[in-house]
Amino acid sequence: MNDAPFLKACRREPTPYTPIWLMRQAGRYMPEYRAVRSRLGFLELCKDADAAAEVTVTAVERLGVDAAIIFADILLILEPMGVGLEYSKGDGPVLHNPIRTAADVEAMPDVDAAAGVPFVYDAVRQARAALKVPLIGFSGAPFTLASYVIEGGGARNYVHTKSLMYREPEAWHTLLRRLANAVVDYLNAQIAAGVHAVQLFDSWVGCLAPDDYRRFVLPHMRTVIAGITPGVPIIHFGTGTSGLLELMREAGGDVIGLDWRVDLGAGWQRVGDDVAVQGNLDPVALFAPLDEIRDRAARILERARGRRGHIFNLGHGILPQTPVDHVIALVDMVHELSGR
Ligand code: CP3
Repeated sequence: MNDAPFLKACRREPTPYTPIWLMRQAGRYMPEYRAVRSRLGFLELCKDADAAAEVTVTAVERLGVDAAIIFADILLILEPMGVGLEYSKGDGPVLHNPIRTAADVEAMPDVDAAAGVPFVYDAVRQARAALKVPLIGFSGAPFTLASYVIEGGGARNYVHTKSLMYREPEAWHTLLRRLANAVVDYLNAQIAAGVHAVQLFDSWVGCLAPDDYRRFVLPHMRTVIAGITPGVPIIHFGTGTSGLLELMREAGGDVIGLDWRVDLGAGWQRVGDDVAVQGNLDPVALFAPLDEIRDRAARILERARGRRGHIFNLGHGILPQTPVDHVIALVDMVHELSGR
């Protein structure tokens, strides 16, 4: 498994072709996933290790991708902290007990959150046993997790999140330290259960000014990255991060995620040739005709040419209405265009 192209690319070793996997490769665009979801609610599915492992493996078999990602969600680790997590139909996730003040932070129960999600580790063990490609574990990064804890769900302007940051910086850092410690324990437990690499999803960090990233986020990313079991590749992902790439690199990671808002070659230059990159097709490009998809995939591969350590991916997750045949075609195109 150590010689799998995905893991070689993480280590910036030469690969016979460019490995590809896709964020949200197991999701609602796929009929097999919708069939499982017709009998299980989303949280039920996440907590049913047999079903979560099955969904993980089915996506790999259907698409022919070079890595699996364990089926779970970044918000699961928050549930043991008493936030009142619920996935309501249509509205996305809701946290009924948001944490917005210094007093709320102080009142957070002191629980071992990573110990509260044993089903994730069971799913990892089962998926790993059934897979022929490497398995990626993941966690939300402290900032993105904090944004859900504070806002109580998704947000547009992050007013509550930034208000805590700007008005009560001590409480902000206390909250982020607690989340960072939980993330380290959670990822190390996934690694102990068998994942080959881990991805940190800092999906919404692109809403921050660079100075705020440096002061309020970077130290906590350093804590997380320093705490992860050595030898396991770390993918550091965010979106809307064109203004933050150098700082994300400074925070760490073996692979830096690039979204489509930045040219892959230019973005790679900015993070440096001594780190691998993952990305960066616009997920909406999968709605284009096949020859247009091929053209765009070819241009991304062209930008990566001559450098080692490119993992092909979308710049963000596959959208629910995406045509499955286009996703399968993209995987084949990337393999073929890069010499498989
Ligand atoms: O990539 C994979 O295939 C692995 C599974 C995975 C899911 N969520 C399954 C999921 C991963 C890696 C995630 C990460 C995640 N979850 C992120 C970071 C990635 C990103 O998109 O930036 C975030 C922000 C979340 C939080 C979350 N979970 C939201 C905002 C939503 C609702 C949005 C939506 O698409 O409905 C979820 C639910 C969710 N997580 C679904 C899936 C397949 C859809 C739920 C369903 O089946 O109805």
